[in-house]
Amino acid sequence: MSKIKKIAVFTSGGDAPGMNACIRAVVRTTLYFGGEVAGIKQGYQGMIDDNIVELDRHSVSNIMQLGGTILKTARCLAFRTEEGMETAYQNLKKHQIDALVAIGGDGTFTGAERFSAKYDIPVICVPGTIDNDLYGSDFTLGFDTATNTVIEAIDKIRDTAESHDRLFFIEVMGRDAGSIALRAGIAGGAEAIMLPEKDTGIQDLIHKLEEGAAKKKSSSIVIVAEGDKNGGAFAVAKKVKEKFDFYDTKVTILGHLQRGGSPSSFDRILGSRMGFAAVKALLNNENRKMVGLRSNEIVLTDLREALTEHEFKLEEDLLEMSTILA
Ligand code: F6P
Repeated sequence: MSKIKKIAVFTSGGDAPGMNACIRAVVRTTLYFGGEVAGIKQGYQGMIDDNIVELDRHSVSNIMQLGGTILKTARCLAFRTEEGMETAYQNLKKHQIDALVAIGGDGTFTGAERFSAKYDIPVICVPGTIDNDLYGSDFTLGFDTATNTVIEAIDKIRDTAESHDRLFFIEVMGRDAGSIALRAGIAGGAEAIMLPEKDTGIQDLIHKLEEGAAKKKSSSIVIVAEGDKNGGAFAVAKKVKEKFDFYDTKVTILGHLQRGGSPSSFDRILGSRMGFAAVKALLNNENRKMVGLRSNEIVLTDLREALTEHEFKLEEDLLEMSTILA
């Protein structure tokens, strides 16, 4: 072990499948290298509330297959204040914690970057969010499982759409990003995909649906990313129906089921790789970095760079393919 003797791990922001695999890897890697490890419950709120527990190997037994996070998570406005950060710092010191692994999304990263710049507590971040909207990693933890969940839902909805000759608009999560919509839409064989990153007009969508109807297509599925500029699935369905009522139209909002479920093999391995790498980075005296998967290699990116200088971009070939293959 380097000068770091005790690491604390926590989850913050929206939960994501694979977080438990990551927690397990952080705990067991830290113990392997002779360190101690604690868990902070409910993210930054738990750091402020001193909701901190000691962890050992058995604390993380039989959790690899569990969705969600055994450490729970929360969104915390208090951590944005000087007082909140100072209280959190005092609590960490009281527990002799000298480094942090933060698992979460961009909000988590922003808090971690500010905190570790102000206090002598190094932080390594793990991109844990189903949205897959973070620069610095080809995939975020939980995205693969969430995408599989959406694909299963599309397959089920397609059965009833085909049975009733219906047009379904399915709204998926992703906040301002269209990663889930794009990949699930392609894999689910959707007739159209509405993305925040692409300005697909309602008229373009209607034209696509009219083409299908002209070819005697008896049902269709449109995936709508919740951040689409036309509004969510209900708004898009209404605008389409005003000008094109060939099909009986239904809307399904998948909502929070996309956040749950047993992690896929990909997310179990990704979570384990990132948790392992995060601890090793701390032991190598790295700070204010995020671990990420780039071309199947684990790499480190400065948090500030990840948060300010770049944005996550959808794959060009998938974007081009999505309209051609539908
Ligand atoms: O960031 C993950 C996410 O699931 C987004 O896709 C979604 O818009 C948001 O969280 C929902 O937040 P909450 O769980 O607080 O309703």
